Amino acid sequence: MNRQEEIKQAQEHFARLLDEQYARIDNMRQADRPVDYTMKEKIIIGVGGGDGIGPYITAWAKEVLDFLLADEVKAGRIVFREIEDLTLEERIKAGKAIPDGPLEALKMCDVILKGPTTTPRAGDGVNVESANVAMRRELDLFANVRPVKVPQLGIDWTFYRENTEGAYAVGSKGIELADGLGVDFTITTQAGSERIIRAAFDYAVRSGQNRLTVVTKANVIKTTDGMFLQTAKQMAGEYPQVVLDDWYIDIMTAKLLDDKRRRDFKVVVLPNLYGDIITDEAAEIQGGVGTAGSANIGNRYAMFEAIHGSAPRMVEEGRAAYADPSSMLRACVMLLEHIGQIEKAAQLAMALDICTLYDRQFVITGRKDGSSAEAFCKYVMQVVQDKELAHRYAQYTQS
Ligand code: IPM
Ligand code: MG
Repeated sequence: MNRQEEIKQAQEHFARLLDEQYARIDNMRQADRPVDYTMKEKIIIGVGGGDGIGPYITAWAKEVLDFLLADEVKAGRIVFREIEDLTLEERIKAGKAIPDGPLEALKMCDVILKGPTTTPRAGDGVNVESANVAMRRELDLFANVRPVKVPQLGIDWTFYRENTEGAYAVGSKGIELADGLGVDFTITTQAGSERIIRAAFDYAVRSGQNRLTVVTKANVIKTTDGMFLQTAKQMAGEYPQVVLDDWYIDIMTAKLLDDKRRRDFKVVVLPNLYGDIITDEAAEIQGGVGTAGSANIGNRYAMFEAIHGSAPRMVEEGRAAYADPSSMLRACVMLLEHIGQIEKAAQLAMALDICTLYDRQFVITGRKDGSSAEAFCKYVMQVVQDKELAHRYAQYTQS
């Protein structure tokens, strides 16, 4: 093929991408209203273990949820449903990021607890998109909410990562042309920016923080990041009580390490890829990516997961049972909040704080010298019931 033909094919490909994006914009404009879980008679929680360490930490997180929700499950108000075949092997077999069976099963649930799934890389022999990315798109889970708290350092951050656009929207649909020319695309829509930025503003108000930081690289990535930043600035007029500031991603990454500055950040809203990167950094400051949970929220569905990957190396090295389940347990806190189980969410959050900050009898190191996920989770369930310990912890945090 000569270069002109290459370019023509690429143009056709590009036109298809634009068509798809216009269809997305139309869908976003007709969006459902968010589900009100207090009005639902029955809530179905789908559980998928994923790959690598996923099945181990998910099974234990599910055990803790079962324990906390025992009454609701008995009364039939909450139903757990296992999502099968969401594994790498099945995805490779079907040649799809999410095979049809599991996708249908996911759509029959209200909320999902999902273990990490392995994403094949370009060059791994299969070209399947990440199951995470596909699920976020298929279920239109546009808000990726990632809290990071380190009370002793005065850190209380909540990241609102845009979850369906940016570099991820068509990440597996780049173009490779002759003579070694590769092109990927990044996509921002006004509708997509508005909904995530609104979610972040609303949270800034609801949480009483009344501060919002928007992070982009709008000085260089002018069109897409420019649109995101402009949208935030325009919407600020609707939220006079919220102080909005804007930072570029590079200096923001540095400032998360600046002890004097970082306490000022509270709620942070940012495009997909920056959100991906900076939340790993933030989680590391909290004690490692194994300590952070993540909520993927849409209007109809919501999915809760760890922020990290499936760590196949830990399985290969025989350390799967020692993987930190805290990430999944933190995800469970957000799941409980999302379905209106506020008190149980608070109980679990406090038990996790106690077990990781105060009464550290079971310390996870990811290795055999540390606690297993099983021992840790059993202790968490014990702590949830220990009123006297909760009381002592409350006194300790006030002193
Ligand atoms: C995350 C993960 C995913 C992402 C991967 C597994 C595709 O890193 O949830 O942050 O990049 O979003
Ligand atoms: Mg990530």
